[in-house]
Amino acid sequence: MDEVDKIKSCHPKCSLLLRIAVPNDKSSWRSFGAKFGALPEEVAPLLRHAHKLGLRVVGISFHVGSKASESQVYRRAIAAARAAFDVADELKMPKMHVLDIGGGFKANQLFDEIAETINVAIKDYFSDHQSDSDLTVMAEPGRFFAETAFTMVANVMGKRVRGEKREYWISDGIYGSFNLPAYDKSSMQISPLQILSPHQNQVTYSSTVFGPTCDSLDTVVADCKLPELKRNDYLVFHNMGAYTTSAGTNFNGFCISAIPTYLAFTNANN
Ligand SMILES: Cc1ncc(COP(=O)(O)O)c(C=O)c1O
Repeated sequence: MDEVDKIKSCHPKCSLLLRIAVPNDKSSWRSFGAKFGALPEEVAPLLRHAHKLGLRVVGISFHVGSKASESQVYRRAIAAARAAFDVADELKMPKMHVLDIGGGFKANQLFDEIAETINVAIKDYFSDHQSDSDLTVMAEPGRFFAETAFTMVANVMGKRVRGEKREYWISDGIYGSFNLPAYDKSSMQISPLQILSPHQNQVTYSSTVFGPTCDSLDTVVADCKLPELKRNDYLVFHNMGAYTTSAGTNFNGFCISAIPTYLAFTNANN
Protein backbone atom coordinates (compact mmCIF):
# COMPACT_ATOMS: atom_id res chain seq x y z
CA MET A 1 0.00 0.00 0.00
CA ASP A 2 2.85 2.31 0.85
CA GLU A 3 4.41 1.66 -2.53
CA VAL A 4 1.15 2.62 -4.26
CA ASP A 5 1.05 5.86 -2.24
CA LYS A 6 4.69 6.54 -3.13
CA ILE A 7 4.03 6.09 -6.86
CA LYS A 8 0.98 8.35 -6.58
CA SER A 9 3.15 11.12 -5.14
CA CYS A 10 6.25 10.60 -7.34
CA HIS A 11 4.97 9.45 -10.74
CA PRO A 12 1.15 9.48 -10.86
CA LYS A 13 0.91 9.27 -14.67
CA CYS A 14 3.05 6.17 -15.16
CA SER A 15 1.71 2.84 -16.35
CA LEU A 16 2.02 0.25 -13.61
CA LEU A 17 2.57 -3.48 -13.51
CA LEU A 18 1.62 -5.26 -10.33
CA ARG A 19 4.30 -7.81 -9.42
CA ILE A 20 2.83 -10.96 -7.99
CA ALA A 21 4.56 -13.62 -5.88
CA VAL A 22 5.11 -16.87 -7.78
CA PRO A 23 3.44 -19.89 -6.17
CA ASN A 24 6.02 -22.43 -5.02
CA ASP A 25 9.18 -20.99 -6.57
CA LYS A 26 11.49 -22.89 -4.21
CA SER A 27 13.03 -24.98 -6.99
CA SER A 28 14.74 -21.90 -8.42
CA TRP A 29 18.33 -21.44 -7.29
CA ARG A 30 17.42 -18.14 -5.70
CA SER A 31 13.72 -17.62 -5.21
CA PHE A 32 12.35 -14.10 -4.94
CA GLY A 33 9.01 -14.82 -3.29
CA ALA A 34 10.04 -13.85 0.22
CA LYS A 35 11.16 -10.40 -0.90
CA PHE A 36 8.95 -9.47 -3.86
CA GLY A 37 5.45 -9.89 -5.13
CA ALA A 38 1.86 -9.58 -3.94
CA LEU A 39 0.29 -12.66 -2.39
CA PRO A 40 -3.03 -13.78 -3.91
CA GLU A 41 -5.05 -12.21 -1.07
CA GLU A 42 -3.15 -8.90 -1.47
CA VAL A 43 -3.93 -8.45 -5.16
CA ALA A 44 -7.49 -7.10 -4.79
CA PRO A 45 -6.72 -4.56 -2.02
CA LEU A 46 -3.68 -3.28 -3.92
CA LEU A 47 -5.55 -2.94 -7.21
CA ARG A 48 -8.50 -1.30 -5.47
CA HIS A 49 -6.20 1.20 -3.77
CA ALA A 50 -4.36 2.01 -7.02
CA HIS A 51 -7.68 2.44 -8.84
CA LYS A 52 -9.03 4.70 -6.10
CA LEU A 53 -5.93 6.93 -6.43
CA GLY A 54 -6.40 7.14 -10.21
CA LEU A 55 -3.28 5.10 -11.04
CA ARG A 56 -3.21 3.06 -14.24
CA VAL A 57 -2.32 -0.59 -13.66
CA VAL A 58 -1.86 -2.06 -17.14
CA GLY A 59 -0.72 -5.56 -16.30
CA ILE A 60 0.99 -8.14 -14.15
CA SER A 61 4.62 -9.12 -13.77
CA PHE A 62 6.45 -11.89 -11.98
CA HIS A 63 9.93 -13.37 -11.69
CA VAL A 64 10.16 -17.10 -10.97
CA GLY A 65 13.60 -16.70 -9.36
CA SER A 66 17.12 -16.99 -10.62
CA LYS A 67 17.96 -20.16 -12.55
CA ALA A 68 14.61 -21.86 -12.73
CA SER A 69 15.18 -25.61 -12.61
CA GLU A 70 11.70 -26.73 -13.69
CA SER A 71 9.42 -25.44 -16.43
CA GLN A 72 6.13 -25.79 -14.53
CA VAL A 73 6.96 -22.87 -12.24
CA TYR A 74 6.22 -20.59 -15.24
CA ARG A 75 2.87 -22.26 -15.75
CA ARG A 76 1.94 -21.74 -12.08
CA ALA A 77 3.02 -18.10 -12.36
CA ILE A 78 1.01 -17.52 -15.55
CA ALA A 79 -2.06 -19.07 -13.89
CA ALA A 80 -1.59 -16.72 -10.93
CA ALA A 81 -1.22 -13.77 -13.33
CA ARG A 82 -4.46 -14.74 -15.03
CA ALA A 83 -6.22 -14.80 -11.66
CA ALA A 84 -4.93 -11.26 -11.04
CA PHE A 85 -6.24 -10.10 -14.46
CA ASP A 86 -9.62 -11.50 -13.42
CA VAL A 87 -9.53 -9.58 -10.13
CA ALA A 88 -9.00 -6.36 -12.10
CA ASP A 89 -12.04 -7.23 -14.25
CA GLU A 90 -14.15 -7.94 -11.18
CA LEU A 91 -13.15 -4.55 -9.77
CA LYS A 92 -14.29 -2.98 -13.08
CA MET A 93 -10.84 -1.55 -13.70
CA PRO A 94 -9.62 -0.78 -17.25
CA LYS A 95 -8.68 -4.06 -18.96
CA MET A 96 -5.13 -5.16 -18.25
CA HIS A 97 -3.08 -5.97 -21.35
CA VAL A 98 0.55 -6.58 -20.29
CA LEU A 99 2.00 -9.85 -19.02
CA ASP A 100 5.64 -9.60 -17.98
CA ILE A 101 7.08 -13.09 -17.46
CA GLY A 102 10.36 -11.84 -15.94
CA GLY A 103 13.64 -13.76 -16.08
CA GLY A 104 15.07 -16.90 -14.53
CA PHE A 105 16.12 -18.50 -17.83
CA LYS A 106 19.41 -20.30 -18.30
CA ALA A 107 20.98 -21.01 -21.68
CA ASN A 108 20.72 -24.77 -21.28
CA GLN A 109 18.64 -27.68 -22.54
CA LEU A 110 15.75 -26.72 -20.22
CA PHE A 111 15.23 -23.48 -22.13
CA ASP A 112 13.27 -25.10 -25.00
CA GLU A 113 11.02 -26.93 -22.54
CA ILE A 114 10.39 -23.70 -20.62
CA ALA A 115 9.58 -21.83 -23.84
CA GLU A 116 7.08 -24.53 -24.83
CA THR A 117 5.52 -24.54 -21.35
CA ILE A 118 5.13 -20.76 -21.44
CA ASN A 119 3.54 -20.79 -24.90
CA VAL A 120 1.07 -23.50 -23.90
CA ALA A 121 0.24 -21.77 -20.59
CA ILE A 122 -0.42 -18.44 -22.35
CA LYS A 123 -2.73 -20.22 -24.80
CA ASP A 124 -4.52 -22.03 -21.96
CA TYR A 125 -4.95 -19.09 -19.60
CA PHE A 126 -5.24 -16.15 -22.01
CA SER A 127 -7.20 -17.71 -24.88
CA ASP A 128 -9.70 -14.82 -24.67
CA HIS A 129 -6.89 -12.34 -25.43
CA GLN A 130 -6.76 -12.95 -29.16
CA SER A 131 -4.81 -10.07 -30.67
CA ASP A 132 -1.47 -8.47 -29.81
CA SER A 133 -3.24 -5.33 -28.61
CA ASP A 134 -5.22 -7.51 -26.15
CA LEU A 135 -2.08 -8.95 -24.63
CA THR A 136 1.53 -7.82 -24.82
CA VAL A 137 3.86 -10.46 -23.42
CA MET A 138 7.28 -9.29 -22.38
CA ALA A 139 10.23 -10.90 -20.59
CA GLU A 140 13.31 -9.71 -18.72
CA PRO A 141 15.99 -12.31 -19.43
CA GLY A 142 19.31 -11.48 -17.78
CA ARG A 143 21.52 -14.51 -17.17
CA PHE A 144 20.26 -16.15 -20.37
CA PHE A 145 22.10 -13.66 -22.56
CA ALA A 146 25.23 -13.01 -20.53
CA GLU A 147 26.20 -16.18 -18.70
CA THR A 148 27.82 -18.30 -21.39
CA ALA A 149 29.35 -15.35 -23.25
CA PHE A 150 32.32 -14.95 -20.90
CA THR A 151 35.04 -17.20 -19.59
CA MET A 152 37.17 -16.11 -16.67
CA VAL A 153 40.89 -16.80 -16.38
CA ALA A 154 42.68 -16.26 -13.06
CA ASN A 155 46.34 -16.47 -12.24
CA VAL A 156 47.69 -18.80 -9.51
CA MET A 157 49.58 -16.39 -7.24
CA GLY A 158 50.37 -18.71 -4.35
CA LYS A 159 50.43 -22.34 -3.37
CA ARG A 160 50.51 -24.44 -0.20
CA VAL A 161 50.94 -28.20 0.08
CA ARG A 162 49.61 -29.94 3.18
CA GLY A 163 49.97 -33.68 2.90
CA GLU A 164 47.68 -34.78 0.09
CA LYS A 165 45.85 -31.45 0.05
CA ARG A 166 46.66 -28.62 -2.35
CA GLU A 167 45.71 -25.01 -1.71
CA TYR A 168 46.00 -22.15 -4.17
CA TRP A 169 45.61 -18.39 -4.04
CA ILE A 170 44.31 -16.86 -7.26
CA SER A 171 44.03 -13.30 -8.54
CA ASP A 172 40.23 -13.01 -8.19
CA GLY A 173 37.84 -14.01 -5.45
CA ILE A 174 34.47 -13.60 -3.84
CA TYR A 175 34.93 -9.86 -3.35
CA GLY A 176 35.50 -9.66 -7.12
CA SER A 177 34.00 -11.74 -9.91
CA PHE A 178 32.97 -14.63 -7.65
CA ASN A 179 30.71 -12.65 -5.36
CA LEU A 180 27.62 -14.53 -6.54
CA PRO A 181 29.01 -17.60 -8.36
CA ALA A 182 30.73 -18.72 -5.14
CA TYR A 183 27.28 -19.27 -3.59
CA ASP A 184 26.55 -21.78 -6.28
CA LYS A 185 29.61 -23.97 -6.25
CA SER A 186 27.73 -26.96 -7.61
CA SER A 187 27.58 -25.35 -11.04
CA MET A 188 31.09 -23.93 -10.97
CA GLN A 189 33.07 -25.28 -13.91
CA ILE A 190 36.76 -25.00 -13.23
CA SER A 191 39.74 -26.36 -15.13
CA PRO A 192 43.44 -25.59 -15.54
CA LEU A 193 44.45 -23.74 -18.69
CA GLN A 194 46.16 -26.62 -20.47
CA ILE A 195 47.78 -24.65 -23.30
CA LEU A 196 50.07 -22.69 -21.03
CA SER A 197 50.70 -25.45 -18.56
CA PRO A 198 50.09 -28.90 -20.01
CA HIS A 199 49.20 -31.36 -17.29
CA GLN A 200 50.35 -34.65 -18.73
CA ASN A 201 50.08 -36.27 -15.36
CA GLN A 202 46.37 -36.12 -14.64
CA VAL A 203 46.60 -37.27 -11.02
CA THR A 204 44.21 -35.02 -9.14
CA TYR A 205 44.32 -33.69 -5.59
CA SER A 206 41.65 -32.37 -3.29
CA SER A 207 42.23 -28.65 -3.79
CA THR A 208 40.98 -25.45 -2.24
CA VAL A 209 41.11 -22.21 -4.18
CA PHE A 210 41.29 -18.97 -2.21
CA GLY A 211 40.74 -15.43 -3.45
CA PRO A 212 43.43 -12.77 -2.97
CA THR A 213 41.98 -10.71 -0.09
CA CYS A 214 42.71 -10.81 3.62
CA ASP A 215 39.36 -12.43 4.46
CA SER A 216 39.12 -16.20 5.01
CA LEU A 217 35.56 -16.03 3.70
CA ASP A 218 37.24 -15.31 0.39
CA THR A 219 37.30 -18.96 -0.68
CA VAL A 220 36.30 -19.55 -4.27
CA VAL A 221 35.93 -23.30 -4.04
CA ALA A 222 36.90 -25.92 -1.45
CA ASP A 223 37.78 -29.57 -1.93
CA CYS A 224 37.55 -29.71 -5.68
CA LYS A 225 39.62 -32.18 -7.69
CA LEU A 226 42.41 -30.49 -9.64
CA PRO A 227 45.70 -31.66 -11.10
CA GLU A 228 48.82 -30.30 -9.43
CA LEU A 229 49.22 -26.62 -10.30
CA LYS A 230 52.21 -24.39 -9.86
CA ARG A 231 52.56 -20.66 -9.34
CA ASN A 232 51.78 -18.66 -12.50
CA ASP A 233 49.51 -21.37 -13.90
CA TYR A 234 46.05 -20.23 -14.89
CA LEU A 235 42.67 -21.52 -13.84
CA VAL A 236 39.74 -21.26 -16.22
CA PHE A 237 36.18 -20.70 -14.99
CA HIS A 238 33.45 -21.20 -17.55
CA ASN A 239 30.12 -19.38 -17.93
CA MET A 240 31.20 -16.31 -15.96
CA GLY A 241 29.24 -13.65 -17.84
CA ALA A 242 26.33 -13.10 -15.44
CA TYR A 243 26.40 -11.52 -11.98
CA THR A 244 30.19 -11.57 -11.77
CA THR A 245 32.13 -8.31 -12.09
CA SER A 246 28.83 -6.41 -11.87
CA ALA A 247 28.52 -7.64 -8.28
CA GLY A 248 32.21 -7.18 -7.41
CA THR A 249 33.83 -4.70 -5.05
CA ASN A 250 37.16 -2.93 -4.57
CA PHE A 251 37.61 -4.45 -1.11
CA ASN A 252 41.16 -4.75 0.18
CA GLY A 253 42.62 -2.80 -2.72
CA PHE A 254 41.73 -5.27 -5.46
CA CYS A 255 40.10 -3.07 -8.05
CA ILE A 256 37.22 -4.71 -9.90
CA SER A 257 37.51 -2.34 -12.85
CA ALA A 258 41.18 -3.34 -13.32
CA ILE A 259 40.17 -6.82 -14.51
CA PRO A 260 40.78 -6.73 -18.26
CA THR A 261 38.09 -8.03 -20.61
CA TYR A 262 39.04 -9.45 -24.00
CA LEU A 263 36.51 -9.98 -26.74
CA ALA A 264 37.12 -12.64 -29.36
CA PHE A 265 35.16 -12.68 -32.57
CA THR A 266 34.81 -15.97 -34.36
CA ASN A 267 33.60 -16.62 -37.85
CA ALA A 268 30.63 -18.97 -37.59
CA ASN A 269 31.74 -20.68 -40.83
CA ASN A 270 35.09 -21.73 -39.41
C1 LIG B 1 13.06 -7.72 -11.84
C2 LIG B 1 14.12 -8.55 -12.49
N1 LIG B 1 14.00 -8.84 -13.79
C3 LIG B 1 14.93 -9.59 -14.44
C4 LIG B 1 16.03 -10.08 -13.76
C5 LIG B 1 17.00 -10.95 -14.51
O1 LIG B 1 16.89 -12.23 -14.01
P1 LIG B 1 17.65 -13.50 -14.64
O2 LIG B 1 19.08 -13.15 -14.74
O3 LIG B 1 17.35 -14.59 -13.66
O4 LIG B 1 17.04 -13.77 -15.99
C6 LIG B 1 16.19 -9.82 -12.38
C7 LIG B 1 17.32 -10.35 -11.63
O5 LIG B 1 17.44 -10.24 -10.44
C8 LIG B 1 15.20 -9.03 -11.73
O6 LIG B 1 15.29 -8.76 -10.42
